[in-house]
Amino acid sequence: MGKKYGAVSFLQILAPELNDRLQDDFLDMESSLIVSMHIQSVDQVKAIKTVKRKITDLDRSKIEEQKKAVRAGYDMDINQIEIQRGLTTSSTAIFVPFTTQELFQNGKEALYYGINALSNNLIMVDRKLLKNPNGLILGTPGSGKSFSAKREIANCFLLTSDDVIICDPEAEYAPLVERLHGQVIKISPTSTNYINPMDLNLDYSDDESPLSLKSDFILSLCELIVGGKEGLQPVQKTIIDRCVRLVYQTYLNDPRPENMPILEDLYNLLREQEEKEAQYIATALEIYVTGSLNVFNHQSNVDINNRMVCYDIKELGKQLKKIGMLVVQDQVWNRVTINRAAHKSTRYYIDEMHLLLKEEQTA
Ligand SMILES: Nc1ncnc2c1ncn2[C@@H]1O[C@H](COP(=O)(O)OP(=O)(O)O)[C@@H](O)[C@H]1O
Ligand SMILES: [Mg+2]
Repeated sequence: MGKKYGAVSFLQILAPELNDRLQDDFLDMESSLIVSMHIQSVDQVKAIKTVKRKITDLDRSKIEEQKKAVRAGYDMDINQIEIQRGLTTSSTAIFVPFTTQELFQNGKEALYYGINALSNNLIMVDRKLLKNPNGLILGTPGSGKSFSAKREIANCFLLTSDDVIICDPEAEYAPLVERLHGQVIKISPTSTNYINPMDLNLDYSDDESPLSLKSDFILSLCELIVGGKEGLQPVQKTIIDRCVRLVYQTYLNDPRPENMPILEDLYNLLREQEEKEAQYIATALEIYVTGSLNVFNHQSNVDINNRMVCYDIKELGKQLKKIGMLVVQDQVWNRVTINRAAHKSTRYYIDEMHLLLKEEQTA
């Protein structure tokens, strides 16, 4: 109608003509238009009266018809005839007042994610079979976000052989991880759980050599420590790379765990170099070696290869935050790289992830 006439000031559509595509039809029109819908609500008592009157009307005409039938001399029951009425899909849908979207995957590694609120069916999902395996748990405080992550972790631990890594800024995953014989690593200036950032993994199956990868990581570490707007100068990078290659000589010749270098070895090598830039880097590194932030200057004493590793970063502190997060990031990245080559999945859970958005390094 709207198309035929230039302007329609008033268009009334009666209820029987309404269909579910009404709004769609309006929006499909090429001319711009404003549609106002005036829906008049009817008082419930009045509505019931109307319906009752309608029923009485029907009963009355039924009786009339029956009387007619009797007068004409045939059985009044003949009035009841079977009617078949054709309905379109949308009209039929009115009688099915629930539309639900089910998510139920049958796979061997499908995990339980709860109950469908509408249909009460189980929600079973194997993330690896979805278009995108990543997920985000959202909710108001105390609504059970961490709880559902823990439940998923436990479920996945029992049902799959995937590795699980947790970044735990509220120190609340330890009980679960310890029950499952996982490794909790507490990173803080006073912690006695040590991860050696210099740990070199020789069974990297990637193309790049382990040493080049490590050198790259130590360069980022020094960049963070030495700081400055422009980052490391080319000369400084050369010196660090030289020292990294030197510091692993003993370990590469005899790869026993006790030969793994620590930051202090790197520091001593830097001190031995002739360039004054080397002294500058060494001094910047000092606080992490002999100073008060020396938590990363130890051989690893935790099982970072455990199937389940939880990094408790609650007491990381401001000073250690950047370097601590970089070390965790390196650990996670190492694990993911190794697992990917072995066709093994790694599940990484980051609780309170918004906290990590505050720092450029972790964001
Ligand atoms: N489905 C549940 N059944 C029983 N207790 C629950 C459930 N979900 C959450 N809780 C409890 O409610 C509290 C808050 O849950 P939590 O996961 O810490 O919330 P969030 O991380 O969303 O702030 C916790 O004590 C948790 O054990
Ligand atoms: Mg929480």
